[in-house]
Amino acid sequence: MKLDSRAVHAGRELKPRDPLAPPIVQTAVYVYDDLDDYDAVARGERPGHVYARNSNENTQWLERAVAELEGAEAAVATGSGMAAILLALLSLAPRPGPLLVQRELYGVTLALLRQDFEPRGYEVRYIDFADLEAVRQGLDGAALAICETITNPLCKVVDLEAICRLAAEGRVPVLVDNTFASPALCRPLEHGATAVVHSATKYLGGHSDLTAGVVAAGGELTADIRARGVRMGTTLGPFEAWLASWRVRRGSRTPGACCQQVPGA
Ligand SMILES: Cc1ncc(COP(=O)(O)O)c(C=O)c1O
Repeated sequence: MKLDSRAVHAGRELKPRDPLAPPIVQTAVYVYDDLDDYDAVARGERPGHVYARNSNENTQWLERAVAELEGAEAAVATGSGMAAILLALLSLAPRPGPLLVQRELYGVTLALLRQDFEPRGYEVRYIDFADLEAVRQGLDGAALAICETITNPLCKVVDLEAICRLAAEGRVPVLVDNTFASPALCRPLEHGATAVVHSATKYLGGHSDLTAGVVAAGGELTADIRARGVRMGTTLGPFEAWLASWRVRRGSRTPGACCQQVPGA
C-alpha cells in the first residue's frame, strides 16, 4: 500500500460490527478470573493487556500506526517526546560511551545530554552533521550517532543516507528524531537509521492538544525499549494515545494534514 492508504488504515484492524471510531479504553487494570490466562497474557504468549503502565489498546493502536507509517517492525508510545528520546538513548547506549551528536539538536535534547548523560560518564561529541568528514572522524569508537531529519528550530537538513552509510561502516547505530519531517516526508529507517523517535506532540498529534512520544525500530530493540519504559514509568495515558492514534489516521486522511501545524508551536 502507498503511504496515503497506510495512513488511513494504520494501527487498527477493523472487524465487522466494530465501532469505526476507536473507543477510549480508560482503565488501569483488566479483569481476569483465571491465573493461567493472566500469566499467559502477562508473558506475551496470548493477546491482551494486564496493566496500563505496561500496555493498553489505545497505546497499541498508536504504536502500530506509527510503526506502519515509519516502516518499522514495532513502536513504543511514551508520555512525551523527551521520554521517547531518553528510552531510545538508554537502550541504544546502555553503558557510558562516546555519543556523536548533531550540534543543532532540539535544545532540551542537548540539555538532557549535557546534564544527565555527560555527568554519568558519557563523552558527548557535538558535531556539525553537514560536515561529513567531521562525522566520519567523530564516529571513531562512537557508541551511537544522533541527529534530527530537520532540526528544531534552525531547520537544518542532514544527508541522512550518507550519515547512515558512514555509521554502518563503523557499526555505529543511528538514532533519528523525525519530529519535524513526519513519516509523510521522510522515513529514516529506509535510509539506514537504527531507530526513529517522534515528539508526537507536534505533527503526529497534529492539533496542539496532547503531549506524547513514540520510538519506532526493529522488534528486538523495541522490546528492550518497552521493558525499560515499563520499569521507568514513561507510559502514555489512554486518552492521549486515543487522541494521537485517531489523529494520525483521521488527520492524514486529508492530504497535507501532517504538515498543517506550525513547527514548535
Ligand atoms: C525535534 C523535537 N524533539 C523532541 C521534542 C520534545 O518533545 P516533547 O515536548 O513532546 O517532550 C521536541 C519538542 O518541541 C522537538 O521539537
